Amino acid sequence: MWRASVLTIFPDMFPGPLGLSLAGKALASGAWALDIADIRDFATDKHRSVDDTPAGGGPGMVMKPDVLGRAIDATADGARPRLLMSPRGTPLTQARVEALTAGPGAVLICGRFEGIDERVIAARGLEEISVGDYVLSGGEIAAMALIDACVRLLPGVMGAAASSAEESFAQGLLEYPHYTRPQLWEDRPIPEVLISGDHAKIAAWRRAEAERLTRERRPDLWARHSGPAAKAAGPK
Ligand SMILES: C[S@@+](CC[C@H](N)C(=O)[O-])C[C@H]1O[C@@H](n2cnc3c(N)ncnc32)[C@H](O)[C@@H]1O
Repeated sequence: MWRASVLTIFPDMFPGPLGLSLAGKALASGAWALDIADIRDFATDKHRSVDDTPAGGGPGMVMKPDVLGRAIDATADGARPRLLMSPRGTPLTQARVEALTAGPGAVLICGRFEGIDERVIAARGLEEISVGDYVLSGGEIAAMALIDACVRLLPGVMGAAASSAEESFAQGLLEYPHYTRPQLWEDRPIPEVLISGDHAKIAAWRRAEAERLTRERRPDLWARHSGPAAKAAGPK
């Protein structure tokens, strides 16, 4: 079973949104497992301290390597990747999410304060993952985002009605726009082609819209999609 183990100083934040909707139902039905370790349980002083002042001075506090090291040793196994949520990390992509979903799960370490002592990263083989170029106050919301993205791809979680095959990023493109009834809303009609019943035309329109949106909004994705390497590989 796909298992996420989260190390945090705020265990009460979990399951949070992961206990609702698709992920929550899948959790309740045993399609995946979630266990939470409170990093403070691995402190040894009476205040259960997990942080200390930064070597070299400066603002804020740093998570202590000894406490975090013990927490990781008690939680991680050899099989699952150890992911440190970090704004310095490799940006999370759908391809990485798919690869994680195909494995046994993940151990997710949530930083707080200024971050964690650098030595733990090397000593425990942590892979730093970022959920975007902005700074959150802690790794918990980043961990939830990663887990949610993985869990919805597990077999049976999304159900037959929804498919990930046409979603944003699946083909290296953003997704086309969606519409539903009423046919006319505030003088805005649904595009004619979508009510034509002509499936080939609909598919062509959706493809063209996906390409237009990607070109306009994500030149980085578009360059990868339409660049020389993509052309050499042939049509997707
Ligand atoms: C306030 S942040 C620390 C920011 C750090 N001092 C820096 O400038 O890179 C505290 C924790 O939030 C988490 N975090 C913040 N932004 C993140 C992001 N974009 N992706 C993943 N984790 C993030 C990390 O676990 C980080 O250790």
